[in-house]
Amino acid sequence: MEPFPGNFLSKLPKTGTSIFAVMSKMAADHKAINLSQGFPDFEVSPGLIGLVEKYMNKGMNQYAPMQGILPLREIITTKVKEAYSADYHPETEINITAGGTQALSSVIEAFVKDDDEVIIFEPAYDSYSPVVKLNNGIVKYAELRQPDYHIDWMEVRKLITAHTRMIIINSPHNPTGSVLKPSDMAELIRLTDNTDILVLSDEVYEHLIYDGIRHESVSRYPQLACRSFVVGSFGKTFHATGWKLGFVLAPENLMAEFRKTHQFIVFTCNTPIQYALAEFMKDKSTYQNLHNFYQEKRDHFVGLLAKSRFEVIPSHGTYFQLLSYRNISGKKDTEMAEWLITEYGIAAIPVSAFYNKKNDYQVLRFCFAKKDETLEKEARLLCRI
Ligand SMILES: Cc1ncc(COP(=O)(O)O)c(C=O)c1O
Repeated sequence: MEPFPGNFLSKLPKTGTSIFAVMSKMAADHKAINLSQGFPDFEVSPGLIGLVEKYMNKGMNQYAPMQGILPLREIITTKVKEAYSADYHPETEINITAGGTQALSSVIEAFVKDDDEVIIFEPAYDSYSPVVKLNNGIVKYAELRQPDYHIDWMEVRKLITAHTRMIIINSPHNPTGSVLKPSDMAELIRLTDNTDILVLSDEVYEHLIYDGIRHESVSRYPQLACRSFVVGSFGKTFHATGWKLGFVLAPENLMAEFRKTHQFIVFTCNTPIQYALAEFMKDKSTYQNLHNFYQEKRDHFVGLLAKSRFEVIPSHGTYFQLLSYRNISGKKDTEMAEWLITEYGIAAIPVSAFYNKKNDYQVLRFCFAKKDETLEKEARLLCRI
């Protein structure tokens, strides 16, 4: 194909191909074990697959309502009520989305205008800041403090101005596995009280939280819930990241504004999968035991690494484990990631990719949502380094 002969100005001139696509391609080229991208290498429950098939065969194959099908909205709002004592109305305060990603970008698109400021904590999931920039907003970065990647609330306080439109939080946190505490929520309440600041709370890993720690959903806190969007992902919870189905919760007046944007981006999401999930989730054990399953995986992986020279940075949530190689090499994290692929056949993500200035602390992110044999093979290789 001949290239476009005219001119255009890129809206994201500094943005290249995402690191996940780059590392996954390198992993495939070198036939490496791909622990870089966050997806399970085990199967979706046959029961859930059977339900999708059932609803496809029943003819549930046309557009679902823009808000999502009511039975799924009801089951999520009931779950949220039971787990976090929060009352969201299934008609007006929840919407089904095309994954967490679309929920996040539609919320930002609906509310962020020219020169609005959005506070983002780094290292950060990579979709937040490009969407803020696409909407002419300004990103204000606050760096999570090591070694446990906690929020420095004094720093956040200094970043708040009359133009602050939104604060984006993410707990359990990708890429670090850190989780917010009740004291963090108290700080967030104090900072946002009597302001027009919205909170966008990315909770896609709500069921992947370990060590008996309670998930601090913003929906638990009425002072936060009234100014917040809560984002969830069925892909993360049901090992089906390729289905791209999620949801967003918010008070009615915020949700009405969200829907104005959502309807023109996707209008509606996959119908048979929504019906299947609504039926599957009637059995609460399908998601309530997930933390045990993943905690075993994390413990197995970390246990296998006990004899390695990598330093394990504790992960209390998500399916990611950070490993520092400070004691092994002085390489940049991008070089180290490349070297691991070419020399050892292991793909991980350099954590500098999650910082806008590419801060390099010599840390790599590994995904442990893998079969035990994959983790064992991986750990054997890592222990040789
Ligand atoms: C922190 C975070 N938010 C949102 C998403 C996107 O979720 P989904 O796959 O449902 O779009 C991901 C996926 O990796 C994530 O890690």
